[in-house]
Amino acid sequence: MSASIQSIRGFADILPDRTPVWRFVEDTFRVLLESYGYEEIRLPALEKTELFARSIGEVTDIVEKEMYTFSDRNGDSLTLRPEGTAGCVRAAIQHGLLHNAQPRLWYAGPMFRHERPQRGRYRQFHQVGVEAFGVEGPALDAELILMSGRLLQALGLDDVRLELNSLGSSEARAAYRERLVAHLQAHADQLDDDARRRLETNPLRVLDSKNPAMAGVIESAPSLLDHLDGASADHFRRLCAMLDAAGQPYHVNPRLVRGLDYYGRTVFEWVSDRLGAQGTVLAGGRYDTLVEMIGGRPTPAIGFAAGIERLVALVEEAGAAPAPAAPDAFLVVADEALESEAVSLAERLRHAMPGLQLRLNTAGGSLKSQFRRADRSGARFALVLGEDEAAAGAVTVKDLRGERPQEQVPVARLADVLGEARQSD
Ligand code: HAM
Repeated sequence: MSASIQSIRGFADILPDRTPVWRFVEDTFRVLLESYGYEEIRLPALEKTELFARSIGEVTDIVEKEMYTFSDRNGDSLTLRPEGTAGCVRAAIQHGLLHNAQPRLWYAGPMFRHERPQRGRYRQFHQVGVEAFGVEGPALDAELILMSGRLLQALGLDDVRLELNSLGSSEARAAYRERLVAHLQAHADQLDDDARRRLETNPLRVLDSKNPAMAGVIESAPSLLDHLDGASADHFRRLCAMLDAAGQPYHVNPRLVRGLDYYGRTVFEWVSDRLGAQGTVLAGGRYDTLVEMIGGRPTPAIGFAAGIERLVALVEEAGAAPAPAAPDAFLVVADEALESEAVSLAERLRHAMPGLQLRLNTAGGSLKSQFRRADRSGARFALVLGEDEAAAGAVTVKDLRGERPQEQVPVARLADVLGEARQSD
């Protein structure tokens, strides 16, 4: 036997026993997002590297060290998307979706970041994201945040908390940045290497540090919320009032800065304590300057993305995962000579009963082993095709889960019998 080939580190297979939970999460999102008027957009996984460098920011962790970037055969620098916002904005501009319109878009799919894999953190992970364009006022922020809360609730997750902050305008951030740098420099002896490096490039990210040795210096840092420009402060105040009015609890966290540079004003995250260090399950915010930065007309926008792996882990842990769908029936072939007859019969039944979940025994075996397979499949009924049945144009119906007496049923009546059983369940 040759040596087997393993998957790439950080790239997970989702095996069939878990896909029902994945679909539960994805379907819940799709139905709810569409009920809020979001339309699906499907985007490529590969984009020009420049798109991400320009939108996410040259000096972010993602662009500096986490992107899967390579030159293709034409020598173009391409990158596997590390997130969906940049590509969505690119597509909206490219296809004129923003002209006199306020599109609400959603997308789902794999994203790629070369991070250190750990629980809840992968190199290929999946997001469902939404982006809403063309509306500046806080009512959209409020609706989007409430929608994200409703999504988590629909998944049965009620122990996640909402963290909220405003990053203000870019001018207010630049002024705040100077104050923050002065504060950090005054405490330079307490900074770790990472913070020292960020001091030069992206000092706001220092506020995000999880290093306990830096808790003091971060705690005593000036708060961005105290240095917002008037319009952003007003936007934030009105947003908070709307969330209060809707009865949505939240925690204002002035140190919430996010790892992508395109944000301004509202930023938010939903966090769970049940996932260890990687507790953020859904995150987003406003990016009113991004459309212009990548070549469109100035267009305000806001969005978020949820990490599906993390949501799936929480749903599984909460025991809220739906059971895998069991087949309605398993067709047992009592005699090898009847195999061809069985294949045709199974097709006739599928044709007559759309939606029927039928497993056909194609692997031969004794009656006993076929019944064992039928049982393991979770099927409600075993349908047995033997010589007698074939001669009579019938199958024997055996109830594997309930009390229904065994009987021979003409094939023409099978739909009624299975249908009745379904209704009485
Ligand atoms: P993000 O915070 O980078 O934002 O990612 C959003 C979510 O994706 C995270 O909260 C987390 O649940 C999940 N996630 C991120 N990285 C990983 C990973 N390595 N493994 C597993 N899950 C991960 C964005 O991507 C923005 N595009 C969100 C957005 C949309 N903002 C506005 N519109």
